[in-house]
Amino acid sequence: MSNLFDLTGKVAVVTGASSGIGIQFAKALAEQGADVAILARRYDKLQEVSKEIEALGKVAFPVKCDVTNERDIEAAVNTIVDKFGKIDILVNNAGTASSGSIETLTEAEWDKVMDINVKSIFLMSKYVVKHMKEKNYGKIINTASILGAVGSKNAPLHVYNASKGAVINLTRGMGTSLIQHGITVNAIGPSLFETEMTKDTLFNEQYLKVYNAVCPAGRPGKSGELNGALIYFASDASNYTTGQILFVDGGWTAI
Ligand SMILES: NC(=O)c1ccc[n+]([C@@H]2O[C@H](COP(=O)([O-])OP(=O)(O)OC[C@H]3O[C@@H](n4cnc5c(N)ncnc54)[C@H](OP(=O)(O)O)[C@@H]3O)[C@@H](O)[C@H]2O)c1
Repeated sequence: MSNLFDLTGKVAVVTGASSGIGIQFAKALAEQGADVAILARRYDKLQEVSKEIEALGKVAFPVKCDVTNERDIEAAVNTIVDKFGKIDILVNNAGTASSGSIETLTEAEWDKVMDINVKSIFLMSKYVVKHMKEKNYGKIINTASILGAVGSKNAPLHVYNASKGAVINLTRGMGTSLIQHGITVNAIGPSLFETEMTKDTLFNEQYLKVYNAVCPAGRPGKSGELNGALIYFASDASNYTTGQILFVDGGWTAI
């Protein structure tokens, strides 16, 4: 039982690791023993995160990659496999949000959010799964959202709803197809956590008052509160769990 969550010797890839939840995920995986390749567009930020991972005694590998660009992704995956020889864990975490309803969103905003939040998971997984299949082992974890399962009456986020709904059912589709190859695919559905994405839009007094009144926990999530779900899905503790969505949301989706 004590070794069930140990990631020593594993190689993890985390997208969107230059900020917010991705940094937390990369560090949590390193704390459990994994070496971690971290991907994002801002290389300077990735270098800072690398230092934090290395301070934990693990290998960090920063790779500049736009996860909407197939050529970038193919090159990034090849570089990581050349360096480490394998990829055990893929965390598809990069994401963005665009507030607004179907009446106010532009086509460009729609396409951008769908590309970053959904197409990226398709492309990253396409290039990583072939290496996982060779080893008959893999753990894919997608960052979804409560807003892929429910709406948000007080702050319309319609393209975000559509994108995270797609992440949830893509997780089920991939999870059921890939388990026969020893690869599990699961998703984490956070509610509200303070990051670059949310700090200016949702972390204001007016919105938090509404959020705290609705959320059974009466507060947003704290840094580190997603890590338990991540390590469960990233480790052998979840070998018979696939296609599942774990909402880490202070009870929001249970109301
Ligand atoms: N914070 C919340 O309350 C919350 C709730 C539910 C779900 N989520 C989800 O959690 C994930 C992480 O979000 P966060 O809150 O940590 O936001 P964040 O701080 O804004 O981080 C977003 C990350 O995605 C990366 N990214 C965006 N577009 C990219 C692209 N084209 N190519 C490569 N990387 C890209 C960014 O890196 P670069 O800009 O350097 O490329 C950054 O590292 C997202 O999927 C988000 O939808 C967040």
